[in-house]
Amino acid sequence: MIEVENLTKRYGYITAVKNISLELNQGEVLGLIGPNGAGKTTTLKTIVGLVVPDSGRILIDNINPFMDPRIKRIIGYVPEIPQTPEWATVCSFLENLGLLEGLSQVEARRRARQALEEFGVGDLCNRKLKMTSKGQRKRILLAQSLLVDKKYMILDEPISGLDPEWVVHVRNKILEWARSGVGVLVSSHILKELQDVVDRVVIIAKGKKVFEGTLQELGAIAGVSGVVIIVTPSAGEAAKVLEAEGIKTISVTGRVVKVQIGEETNPKKILEILDEKDIQVEGFEYREASLEEAYLKLVRGG
Ligand SMILES: Nc1ncnc2c1ncn2[C@@H]1O[C@H](COP(=O)(O)OP(=O)(O)O)[C@@H](O)[C@H]1O
Ligand SMILES: [Mg+2]
Repeated sequence: MIEVENLTKRYGYITAVKNISLELNQGEVLGLIGPNGAGKTTTLKTIVGLVVPDSGRILIDNINPFMDPRIKRIIGYVPEIPQTPEWATVCSFLENLGLLEGLSQVEARRRARQALEEFGVGDLCNRKLKMTSKGQRKRILLAQSLLVDKKYMILDEPISGLDPEWVVHVRNKILEWARSGVGVLVSSHILKELQDVVDRVVIIAKGKKVFEGTLQELGAIAGVSGVVIIVTPSAGEAAKVLEAEGIKTISVTGRVVKVQIGEETNPKKILEILDEKDIQVEGFEYREASLEEAYLKLVRGG
């Protein structure tokens, strides 16, 4: 298990991460979700030892990496941007990473090529990193995740900017890792990108944790269940009737009444109330709130 306890990191007067705690178990996929600037990259870099926190503690399988840095070897890390000079060639970039991982020269060379092939960028071997496109670079970065098998994988925005074909590839890879017992911590500023693969999410905004749990819990805790849309010639009157019943989240536009309801309200109840007061309803629709709405609500509130 990777444990992050009360992590805080400041850059001058900016507090990038405030008191964040999380746990990553083997065999699970944990999503770290938050808008740009939320502190995702800082959190992930702290776990892999690229950023030193101001306070807080990291434990990797119960070992503090500041006491015993060797433990970091069991974590694989795919950064958002390459940590290598732009003039390196694609193959030398990956080969060097392989050598740092303790592979022999021959093995590093072989695996680098194989990894690039798997991500469809094998033909870029001798190209300089700076001469690659954004999407190609993303796949080159992802290729490093295949060099050596790890117990935990930390992926910083691995899906953003990829073509749909490769989005599927990366999602499958994440699921494959989890199935084989690898703990995967993966960040994104877009919840949708990850909602099919995560077991749990930690949502952060402005450096603070605003939510932790499953996606079902996310839908429930945000308190939005859905929106009831009613079309009626007496829209104003309908709004008044519903308000009198204690329903407050109503908006009226012409003949359309939109009512946001919480978990506790059955959408049919809205129809019953209107029917009771003889309000003519020409159209009725219920839209379940998307997770994205719940996410936005949390992030804006936090
Ligand atoms: N090296 C740095 N120096 C100064 N400020 C930084 C540095 N890295 C990140 N920050 C700031 O810390 C905050 C969190 O950044 P980051 O962790 O990159 O967020 P995210 O990955 O969620 O977009 C932002 O306000 C960012 O500008
Ligand atoms: Mg980031």
